[in-house]
Amino acid sequence: MRQNIETRAEASIRELDAAEAEARLAELADILVDAVAHGASVNFLAGFDREDGRAFWRKQVADIADGGKRLFVGERGGRLVGTVLLIYAPQPNAPHRAEIGKMLVLSSERRQGLGRRLLAVTEQAASRAGRTLLLLDTESGSSGDRLYRSCGWREYGRVPDHAYRVDGRLAETTMFYKILPGRPAAPGSVPPLGAARP
Ligand SMILES: CC(C)(COP(=O)(O)OP(=O)(O)OC[C@H]1O[C@@H](n2cnc3c(N)ncnc32)[C@H](O)[C@@H]1OP(=O)(O)O)[C@@H](O)C(=O)NCCC(=O)NCCS
Repeated sequence: MRQNIETRAEASIRELDAAEAEARLAELADILVDAVAHGASVNFLAGFDREDGRAFWRKQVADIADGGKRLFVGERGGRLVGTVLLIYAPQPNAPHRAEIGKMLVLSSERRQGLGRRLLAVTEQAASRAGRTLLLLDTESGSSGDRLYRSCGWREYGRVPDHAYRVDGRLAETTMFYKILPGRPAAPGSVPPLGAARP
């Protein structure tokens, strides 16, 4: 008997430049709204809507155009299903450092390995850019916390009652770092922010 096996194409991962991010603001907003609606602690509170999401991403587009942030996305069937921001430290003494932000996978797409793949691609891009020290923080015990631990990130501290959760309770945050293979960028070796803007 022929089996009816549903096959889903794997999401592809790539970097979006500022122009494409601007063109896809609605999809980017949808991913963030979905994360907040499902209780993710990603700086926003209940009631966060698509307009708020677009406003958030519009600011990121400006930073991407300035060269201070990079955006990597997962895309499946022509639709954006995941995001992660690589945020370059702007300080002159930290050209080798960056942070990870808005590591989000659409709730319907989770636990299929996309978060891990998005993070790996972002780490590779960071390493190639000489940003070999990565930092982030996330709610203790959250899906993000689990993801980072499973991807080799090291915890370096916890802060109790760091932020309000979507449900109104204060929650602890855990800070993580990861040292990537590669040569750390030296002071003076990276273009100043804004240099990428045409
Ligand atoms: C965190 C997040 C991006 C993970 O995306 P994902 O595509 O589901 O992650 P993956 O499928 O690649 O998971 C990789 C590993 O991380 C761990 N993990 C991820 N989500 C987990 C969960 N909910 N519970 C337990 N472990 C989890 C597991 O070890 C998993 O491997 P496994 O599935 O083989 O057990 C997603 O859950 C999300 O968008 N959460 C809300 C937003 C958020 O909290 N982001 C982080 C804050 S910056």
